[in-house]
Amino acid sequence: MGQVDYNASRSRTRKRGLRIWVAVLALALLYVYRQQGLEFWPSSTVHSPIQAAAISRCRALQLQPGPPDDFHDRSESDRFVPQTRPHLVQNAKIWTGRNNGTEVLTGDILIDKGLIKGVGHFGSAFLRETYGSDLVVIDAQNAWVTPGIVDIHSHMGNGPSPALDGADDTNSHKATIQPWLRSLDGLNTHDDSYALSIAGGVSVALILPGSGDAIGGQAFVMKLRKTAERSSTSMVLEPPYTVNSSFPDPTRPPRWRHMKHACGENPSGWYSNTRMDTIYAFRDAYNTASQIKKQQDEYCSKALVDEWDGLGEFPESLQWEALVDVVRGRVKVQIHCYEAVDFDGLVRLSNEFKFPISAFHHAAEAYLVPDLIKKTYGPTPAIAIFATNARYKREAYRHSEFAPRILAENGLTVLMKSDHPVMNSRHLVYEAQQAYFYGLPENLAIASVTSNPAEVMGMGHRIGYIKEGWDADLVIWDSHPLALGATPAQVFIDGIPQLESPHVVKKPKTFQHAPSVPNFDKEAQEAVEYDGLPPLEPTAVKIRPIVFVNVKSVLTPDDEGVHELFSAIDSGTLGTVVAENGHITCVGVCSTDFADATVIDLEAGSISPGLVTFGSPLGLQHIEAEDSTADGAIYDPLSSSGVPEIVGGDGAIIRAADGLVFQTRDALLAYRAGVTSGIVAPLASGVFGGLSVSFSLGAAHKLERGAVLQEVTAVHMKVLQSLPGPSVSTQIALLRRLLLRPVDGPSKEWFLKVTNGEIPLVIEAHGADIIASLILLKKEVEHANGKTIQMTVTGASEAHLLAEELGEAGVGVILNPARPFPYLWEYRRILAGPPLTEHTAASVLISHNVTVGLGVIEIWEARNTRFEIAWASLASGGRMSQVEALALGSTNVAKLLGAKLPRKLTQDLVATRGGDLLSFNSKVVAVISGSRGLVDLL
Ligand SMILES: *[C@@H]1O[C@H](CO)[C@@H](O)[C@H](O)[C@H]1NC(C)=O
Ligand SMILES: *[C@@H]1O[C@H](CO)[C@@H](O)[C@H](O)[C@H]1NC(C)=O
Ligand SMILES: *[C@@H]1O[C@H](CO)[C@@H](O)[C@H](O)[C@H]1NC(C)=O
Repeated sequence: MGQVDYNASRSRTRKRGLRIWVAVLALALLYVYRQQGLEFWPSSTVHSPIQAAAISRCRALQLQPGPPDDFHDRSESDRFVPQTRPHLVQNAKIWTGRNNGTEVLTGDILIDKGLIKGVGHFGSAFLRETYGSDLVVIDAQNAWVTPGIVDIHSHMGNGPSPALDGADDTNSHKATIQPWLRSLDGLNTHDDSYALSIAGGVSVALILPGSGDAIGGQAFVMKLRKTAERSSTSMVLEPPYTVNSSFPDPTRPPRWRHMKHACGENPSGWYSNTRMDTIYAFRDAYNTASQIKKQQDEYCSKALVDEWDGLGEFPESLQWEALVDVVRGRVKVQIHCYEAVDFDGLVRLSNEFKFPISAFHHAAEAYLVPDLIKKTYGPTPAIAIFATNARYKREAYRHSEFAPRILAENGLTVLMKSDHPVMNSRHLVYEAQQAYFYGLPENLAIASVTSNPAEVMGMGHRIGYIKEGWDADLVIWDSHPLALGATPAQVFIDGIPQLESPHVVKKPKTFQHAPSVPNFDKEAQEAVEYDGLPPLEPTAVKIRPIVFVNVKSVLTPDDEGVHELFSAIDSGTLGTVVAENGHITCVGVCSTDFADATVIDLEAGSISPGLVTFGSPLGLQHIEAEDSTADGAIYDPLSSSGVPEIVGGDGAIIRAADGLVFQTRDALLAYRAGVTSGIVAPLASGVFGGLSVSFSLGAAHKLERGAVLQEVTAVHMKVLQSLPGPSVSTQIALLRRLLLRPVDGPSKEWFLKVTNGEIPLVIEAHGADIIASLILLKKEVEHANGKTIQMTVTGASEAHLLAEELGEAGVGVILNPARPFPYLWEYRRILAGPPLTEHTAASVLISHNVTVGLGVIEIWEARNTRFEIAWASLASGGRMSQVEALALGSTNVAKLLGAKLPRKLTQDLVATRGGDLLSFNSKVVAVISGSRGLVDLL
């Protein structure tokens, strides 16, 4: 019996206790690891290939998308193109995107390997040692540099330009729910838009399927530059691994996926559905996806603890896997959605099925319901909108130019987007400029097309900022990016300069700062107060005199064009203008000794000719997509049904004057932006146009004094390859016949007036070949009749190719669109203007003595005429004076369309406060209307 080794026994007990604790701990750890699907030590369970794959799938399900943790250790971009030389952009004013878009640095940007290597100042010794003579140095000369422009909503490549039937891959018509489709599969690499949009600074676009379906399919982020491979996939930025694999590597975090949804009118119209059908279709689809997710989660909770009995295969569906990923929160969902009722449905859907929404697009009414938007499941969606493009359909009717600022004031993220080619994304920065003009703060306006869309599309870790380690996508601008007409002097994508020999226009010095813009607080408040439909009617002052003080300049229209009546030399010599009964009675130094005068301080503003709009159906419709709000289209004699005899048969001619509608919102908004009159021809579906009318945009109805300015101004026709019906040669044959041997009937009188040179023949034509035929036809008819015809070509996208011939033939041109874009084949040979070409179509035509006017295509655009003509003048690089620019949007348009220029007492003039009509500094405050005998205060 020995002594009990108490100590030994204690030690044994202790050891045993320790062993138990270790075992318990190990089991616990094993349990936790198994639960997590992780292996503690080589598992004793041998997995079959199917089980191994399932385990791999289950683990991958738990990963959230985003860049890998070591993403910013990269020293070379995955998009780096070998042989690309390093660049140093020196002396730049750099908008970095940091600090909520408020950080601006002066210095240099070093780019190499497709990345921004640094921002600041770099020693020449360091540069020499690192790069030697390989480094390309660009002196930005204090120019603004921003990140590449990012477009969150584009159909580039899917709906290609020029549009051709064989290449439209925007919308599938098969079903309204198709999360399995991919925009990438229709991404045409041959699209004229790529180079054009790059020339506007756009480096990245999210390519969304169309909005015809409730779920249109998956979207892809694309860099616009050409790749060596020339393939669609090689343009995709961070392609989700699912793009070519159903079993992505489970060890890497997945990349963001993107999906398009749409609600409201588009999916309704496509399938003759109602909103109720569409939302149910969503719920049904999300229910399916949620069921699959549930089955997967249940499966994985067993598979990951090796409970394989009866488990079978991993539940999955090729059709639904993308929507399952949506309910897993791994997809950026972009939803085309306009109205409160539609947001309401989608917000409920997101909460029912617990998925976040990345952004609502178009979102015309979002500014009216910010609290509803904030109820979306997960983070509050961003709002991606147009600036002033609105009212084209009912659900866009309440959109407001103040929406960006109101949304921002409510803490929502505002993005400006193109919907390219609906709007040409080359000018996406113009959307930001307009948002800024109407009150979106400068920092947020630039962010709305750079850092914010980058973040919203889940790419903020590499694009949208000028920061060390980010992709080398940069734009060097010729002015502050928010100054009207800002144009890239160079664009880098992945460190590669995109403009081979850019034409850079010299801008006025003041354009190097963000313009100081007018105050619209009252208007913005009223937009909300009146549910998007604030009253727009002006206040007329008839008899009382109006005294304008602090007037910088007075420009008036006359037969020759626009004429300067008064111009202050400096701020000390600002003048006074008195208007009574709608016309000016004194300019310069005036007695202001009136008892009952209204005094308006123009704060160094101007009085300019009222602008004239042409090209859109303004005056004939309220809402483009709603036939019941419009005059409608006229019969076409060349269509199979022809013109009914009772209407006049082939000899009929329709007058737009008979269909006029007054006080449409677009007319009043244009009026408030200095457009005092419009000229409109009947809406023609074919060759035969009818008689145009000139009318006032301020009048309340047709019977008011001065409402109809000229009952008939011109005869209108179209000759287009894109017209439905007979050939171009037939269209020209018809024109020849009508000019040489007019058909009996009411139209005869008007064609005789044309051949007698009493009234212009206005022909919409774009292709140079057609325009050439028209020039020849003009000569032929003139030869036959011995009289000169007044001919005007409108549209005229390729007119610059015949500038000399048009000048010699005395044919005038209305460019429409004013900024060219190859929408159709016959529009494709555009003169793109700076930075791609030195000249613009307007400047080339003017240099050949062609009278040029600018037009608009859609009715909402009329209000932007002042900016279009200002832009045309800026783009001409000083070749076009202010007076000539004003003529482009006023006297020239009138002259080319046969509207007689009003005499002195019947002129319409526009008063602007804070600057002239062409500048971003000014606001239109009054119309001095001679034609209506009153002054309208706005
Ligand atoms: C960002 O800037 C806007 C406008 O300048 C401002 O209203 C907002 O509070 C800023 N946000 C932050 C987080 O600083
Ligand atoms: C799948 O696509 C990625 C990205 O384009 C590419 O890197 C990878 O090689 C592709 N895999 C296969 C198997 O083609
Ligand atoms: C344009 O007109 C002016 C004045 O009539 C004339 O001097 C000039 O030669 C013309 N230019 C062209 C290109 O026809």
